[in-house]
Amino acid sequence: MPRLLLVSNRLPVTVKAEKDHVSVVRSPGGLATGLSRPHERSGGVWIGWPGDVSRLSAAQRTQVESQLSALRCVPLYLSASEVSRFYEGYSNRVLWPLCHYLLDRIPRQDRDWEAYAKVNERFAELAASHYQPGDTIWVHDYQLMLVPGLLRKRLPEARIGYFHHIPFPSSEIFRTLPHREDLLRGLLGADLVGFHTPSYAHHFSSSLLRLLGLETDLDNVTYEGRTVRVGGFPMGIDAEAFEKVSQEPGVLEELRVLKERSAGQRLLVGIDRLDYTKGIPRRMLALQRVLERQPALRGRLRLIQVAVPSRTQVEDYAAYRDKVDELVGRINGMYGTVHNVPIHYLYRSFNEKQLAGLYRAADVMLVTPVRDGMNLVAKEFCACRPDEDGVLILSEFAGAASELRDALIVNPYDVEAMADAIEEALRMPVDTRRRRMRTLRAQVKSRDVHWWVGSFLDTLQGMPTPSIRKG
Ligand code: UDP
Ligand code: G6P
Repeated sequence: MPRLLLVSNRLPVTVKAEKDHVSVVRSPGGLATGLSRPHERSGGVWIGWPGDVSRLSAAQRTQVESQLSALRCVPLYLSASEVSRFYEGYSNRVLWPLCHYLLDRIPRQDRDWEAYAKVNERFAELAASHYQPGDTIWVHDYQLMLVPGLLRKRLPEARIGYFHHIPFPSSEIFRTLPHREDLLRGLLGADLVGFHTPSYAHHFSSSLLRLLGLETDLDNVTYEGRTVRVGGFPMGIDAEAFEKVSQEPGVLEELRVLKERSAGQRLLVGIDRLDYTKGIPRRMLALQRVLERQPALRGRLRLIQVAVPSRTQVEDYAAYRDKVDELVGRINGMYGTVHNVPIHYLYRSFNEKQLAGLYRAADVMLVTPVRDGMNLVAKEFCACRPDEDGVLILSEFAGAASELRDALIVNPYDVEAMADAIEEALRMPVDTRRRRMRTLRAQVKSRDVHWWVGSFLDTLQGMPTPSIRKG
């Protein structure tokens, strides 16, 4: 296997500075958690942002740098203005809502494009300086859409892959973006452009046709004399590792305690970054509907909702947090008793073992985003259920729904239908639960993260070699 140079905005670990103490913790989100183990296995380096280090002393910075270097991570530090304009501004106020079909969340004036382009230059420069002939460069996600093109200029013969971890919207949506052509040309610097589903790949190809007049022929596009391949590669998880963790004594003990404390109750679980794409309010309204319809379930049904703080400086995320807080308060106020409340809301992040305990305790796992590139939580839940029990309720707008057909698939915009699905899940006979979970687990295990990395890199390696390209 060639040496792999991973390039993503976020490193798999983030620096956390609290008073005098500085630590390096696991980064939030599917990209970082998903790619961590493939990175551990490969001998390459990972270039990315380690989070805000502005408050660190020189000594602390040295300490962090040696920790990062032990993990083969190369930091690219963002200034305060770059964080605000490149990361919060263009990446998360413009591209994130656009790719999730939420155009009305995009600011009316596009002020941060230049900062986006500049930081993409910085990433390309740093990646090029770490490149050794024969390396494969793998660029990740929407924050770095210009990087493949910028790298191609610097390294015309390098093998470059790009993977888009979020949905790629219909060309009708994508074409609303003022810098649409620049972004498409940026991606075409890669040899292979990958998406979670064939339908995102199809949207990308339609955008190439409508906006650049480029036709995709059997997944191949010719651009500036090179062949660029486009394809769907559904990302998986390290299913074996999750299954192992879910059987550790500490996790089983946590599960026992959770079950004991919820004796007589059915548990619903939701685990998400606190993001407006995750559909948390409608999910809570569906729970409210179930409690309205079925008084017998009051006091006997509890939703544990983990909401991991995310992008807190972006106004829409702050407003979303207020909305969720308000809804939790309202529903708990309505259906809570002096003994318990229907929604147990946790605004913080958990480690893998703690998550495994929750996955194992869930009677029903609720994954109901209004739009989501893949959603790895849905897959982690299945991997953590060697007992072959538990029901997955999954939004039809998550990339995972194109694979996990044995989940109860719901339309997250239809609150009544989600309430029906929760009732159906609670009523589902044990043999049906087992049969469905067995199929789900087989899928999650066979198309795991190692399969994903292998199939993407094999396709990339199979592209014409740089020397053939030269001739
Ligand atoms: N996660 C975590 N701690 C938490 C909650 C979630 O480490 O408290 C991880 C989870 O295990 C999963 C990732 O965050 O690997 C979320 O990925 P997903 O694809 O579901 O959504 P994203 O956050 O990337 O939109
Ligand atoms: C999603 C994106 C990732 C991002 C993650 C966490 O998974 O696809 O690129 O890293 O969310 O978001 P953050 O803004 O904290 O990096």
